[in-house]
Amino acid sequence: MENIFTKTAEVSVSAKPQIVPVTSTKGGEGKSTQAGNLAGFLADAGLRTLLIDGDHSQPTASSIFALKYEAPCGLYELLMQSVDLCQPEQIISRSFIPNLDVIISNDPHDRLPVAMLHAPDGRLRLRNVLQHALFTQYDVIIVDSKGAASVMLELILLAATEFTLGVIKPILPDTREFLRGTLGVLEGLLPLTGFGIQLPAVRILTNCMEYTNLDWQTLESLRSIITNGQYLRADAFDVSLLDTIIPRLEIYKMGHASGQPVHRLEKTTTRTSTPAAADTMYMLACELFPGWKAVFDRFRNGNAEVQP
Ligand SMILES: Nc1ncnc2c1ncn2[C@@H]1O[C@H](COP(=O)(O)OP(=O)(O)OP(=O)(O)O)[C@@H](O)[C@H]1O
Ligand SMILES: [Mg+2]
Repeated sequence: MENIFTKTAEVSVSAKPQIVPVTSTKGGEGKSTQAGNLAGFLADAGLRTLLIDGDHSQPTASSIFALKYEAPCGLYELLMQSVDLCQPEQIISRSFIPNLDVIISNDPHDRLPVAMLHAPDGRLRLRNVLQHALFTQYDVIIVDSKGAASVMLELILLAATEFTLGVIKPILPDTREFLRGTLGVLEGLLPLTGFGIQLPAVRILTNCMEYTNLDWQTLESLRSIITNGQYLRADAFDVSLLDTIIPRLEIYKMGHASGQPVHRLEKTTTRTSTPAAADTMYMLACELFPGWKAVFDRFRNGNAEVQP
């Protein structure tokens, strides 16, 4: 019988995983959708990928893909340190996508925020638990988050190894809220840098682009704010806008209905206005993880072989 905890990924590139929080203090920008799509793409490309559903009370990212094995524990036990990490089957759920493991969200009664606020090491819990040897088997860990400023967002941001993927729609109030809200949360964490903790760079992904003049104007004004350093604590934070843009398309809604990452659903397109979803996810992966470009190229060239 297959040992479900035997990893069979073709690519094994890092001793320590890249940990990428997907964030925005505003709700509904597309965090969970794109966290799932990105994790699914990376896993299909051969990277050993873990998707942590950090929306503690409203599981979304962890419910997109069907699970082949659901562990009895999830985010709650991980953060409460009430699960033995030497027994992976207690905490690691396996999705039907090879190479994609999941830690489910399981705190429907909202107990984690209070517990983490009161624990002296609460804000550092995720960062610390992810140091366990269990997690060195992964190349990349994607952590979805709730669309609100809270201790939970803080502890997820503090787990980042290099950057957080900030997701925004090209709508003026949303971009303003992102710069005010998400950077505001990071500003509150600045005192921790005095203890040697590095705060993540912020890489902004435009989602739900409709390519109207207004959308372009909004992006241009955001780009100008960033280039001119006219955002909160520009002296302290490295903020950039990704070139990859995700269009607003029905296909990006299909993941939840079909349980598949979008690159499997749309490998090619006859649309001339926007690339096929598989190409958009490839561009995003290359932009975020240039060190793995060869892996993504190889996958893209053989992508036709990946069956839903
Ligand atoms: N590129 C896209 N095109 C079309 N629909 C999209 C796209 N991205 C996300 N959506 C849809 O937008 C809605 C909100 O997306 P999602 O749940 O991922 O947002 P969120 O930021 O995780 O929200 P919350 O803050 O509530 O967790 C969903 O119905 C999703 O299917
Ligand atoms: Mg969400």
